Amino acid sequence: MSYKELIVVGELNVDLILNNIEGFPKIGTEIIANNMNLTLGSSSAIMAANAAAMGISTSFCGVVGNDNYGDFITSELKKKNVHTEFITKNSALQSGITIVMNYDQDRANVTYCGAMEALTFDLIPWDTLSEFKHFHLSNFFIQKGIRKDITKIFKKAKECGLTTSLDLQWDPENKWDFNFEACLPYVDIFMPNEQELLALTKQETLDTAIQHIEKSANIIVVKMGEKGSIAIQNKKRTTTEAFHNPTYVDSIGAGDSFNSGFIKKFIEKAPLTECLRAGNLMGALNTTAAGGTAAFVNQNIIKEKVKTIFNSEL
Ligand SMILES: Nc1ncnc2c1ncn2[C@@H]1O[C@H](COP(=O)(O)OP(=O)(O)O)[C@@H](O)[C@H]1O
Ligand SMILES: [Mg+2]
Repeated sequence: MSYKELIVVGELNVDLILNNIEGFPKIGTEIIANNMNLTLGSSSAIMAANAAAMGISTSFCGVVGNDNYGDFITSELKKKNVHTEFITKNSALQSGITIVMNYDQDRANVTYCGAMEALTFDLIPWDTLSEFKHFHLSNFFIQKGIRKDITKIFKKAKECGLTTSLDLQWDPENKWDFNFEACLPYVDIFMPNEQELLALTKQETLDTAIQHIEKSANIIVVKMGEKGSIAIQNKKRTTTEAFHNPTYVDSIGAGDSFNSGFIKKFIEKAPLTECLRAGNLMGALNTTAAGGTAAFVNQNIIKEKVKTIFNSEL
C-alpha cells in the first residue's frame, strides 16, 4: 500500500451531543440533559476516519482553532490513523462546534462554524498532491473560504493526476448556489443524497433531477437511505438495494460511511456495481452503532461485524 492514497479536504468540528433532555429548550428557562458526549464531528472527518479504519492510507486537510477542541479533533483523527500534517491551526479563530440536542428520533442542531470557514484554496497541499491517488471534498456549502474556488480546486486536483469525488451535503441557507455545469466535469464521482439532488436541481422527481444534471457529470451516485443507491454513468443507471439491518441504532454519518466504502473500491479500480455494494454495506454498518464512527474501529472489527450482521464481506 502506498503511503498516500486518499486526501480528504473539508470542515472540522466537535459534536457536543446532549441526550435524554427533559423537554424542549425555551427562551428564558433552563432544562436538564441527563447524558452528554463530546465527539469528533463533521461529515468530512467521519468519512476520513472510516476510510482509514477500512485500511485506506488517508490524510486530512482542514483548519481548527488553536484551542482545546482543535487539539481534541486532531488527536481523535490520529487515533483513527488519519494523517494530520495538513491540518492548520489558526490562532485567530476558534474551532467549529455543533451542539446536537437529541429528542427521541429527532434532533435540533446549532453549529458555530469558526475556523472551518478559514479553509481556502491556498491551504490545500498542491506541491505534494500528485503523490495521492484520490481527492475527496465534502460539505461545500458551509465552507465559505472554498466556495468561490470550487471549480478551480477540482480542476487543479485533476491536473495533479488524481481521481476526484464531491459530496456537497445540505445547504443550511437552502439557496443551492453551486455551479454544477462548471465544476462537475472535473469531478469523477458526484455523491449527493436524494433530497440534496432534488434541491440542487430544483426538480420534483429523481428521474428528472438525474436528466437535469447527467450531461455535466461523469459518475453520479445518489444515496437513498433504506432504498439503497443508484449510479449514473454515460446515461446508464445502475440500482442497488440497501443491506437489511436488523440492529438499527441511528443513521448519523451513513452517507459519509457510504462514501468511504465506495471510494475504497473505486481506488482499487473495482467495477461500479462493486463500488455501490461496498458503499451500501458501509452505510448499513454505520447504522448499527451510535453516531458516525463507532462501528468502524479497525479492519478486523469491520470484517467481523460485516460477517456476523450482514453475512457479507467488504
Ligand atoms: N436504515 C438503513 N438500512 C440499511 N442501509 C442504510 C440505512 N440508512 C442508510 N443506509 C445506507 O447508507 C447509505 C447512505 O445513507 P443516506 O441516509 O442515504 O445518506 P446521507 O447520510 O448522506 O443522508 C444509503 O445509500 C444506504 O446504502
Ligand atoms: Mg450526506
